[in-house]
Amino acid sequence: MNDATPVETAARGTVRTLSTKELPLLREHLLRLDPASRHDRFNGFIDSGFIVRYAAKCVSDGTIVVAYFEDGVVRGAAELHQPDLSPVSLPEIAFSVEACVRRKGVGSLLFSRLIEKARALNYQKLRITTGAQNEAMRALAHKFGANLTFRHGESTGSIDLRKPTPAGTEATATPVDAMRALMGINRAWWTAVMKMYGPGGAT
Ligand SMILES: CC(C)(COP(=O)(O)OP(=O)(O)OC[C@H]1O[C@@H](n2cnc3c(N)ncnc32)[C@H](O)[C@@H]1OP(=O)(O)O)[C@@H](O)C(=O)NCCC(=O)NCCS
Repeated sequence: MNDATPVETAARGTVRTLSTKELPLLREHLLRLDPASRHDRFNGFIDSGFIVRYAAKCVSDGTIVVAYFEDGVVRGAAELHQPDLSPVSLPEIAFSVEACVRRKGVGSLLFSRLIEKARALNYQKLRITTGAQNEAMRALAHKFGANLTFRHGESTGSIDLRKPTPAGTEATATPVDAMRALMGINRAWWTAVMKMYGPGGAT
């Protein structure tokens, strides 16, 4: 039995997967990262040209992007990169949350949604790589059961999706998601009522 409680978040935005047409929003989000965050995200100093090429590659290679939106702007992203053709290759995941919405549970929310997505695709393990000094990402990965080991200035680890999700990290809805779901239920209820009692409905 799984008695864990879902991810707690103070975030007020919504989370959803980007369609291929929306992937330029990933580029805009990554370009907004400040230099230190860019460095942490890509484990090195990179320029805007790199980000533009990187985002274009995500469109062409089938990367899945789960995005956190606030006021219509993507402020956080979780990327699920397909494994390459080698038999030992694992799908790789990466995260970025803009500084203005950090430490509110957005990274955790994106992580839990990405795990759901990966399970739905029947992946059994995910790989994560981050800079050895990246305390925030190490804490986030650790929370989701990753054991990171240090090598060549990088921390690398994997998440075994066959194991139960650690307590407190199940996917949940943000307040706005929950409100939308409620509105959907209300709409469905009124549609059913109208069908029964409205014009042409049951008498
Ligand atoms: C790593 C990152 C995605 C975390 O996003 P976030 O929205 O702040 O994460 P959360 O608020 O969900 O926090 C997750 C956990 O990490 C911990 N944490 C977050 N930032 C931390 C920091 N700077 N130092 C130590 N722990 C930190 C939180 O306390 C939380 O643990 P808790 O739930 O037990 O309290 C964000 O800092 C980021 O985008 N950094 C720059 C890009 C990057 O480093 N990407 C990783 C490369 S894969």
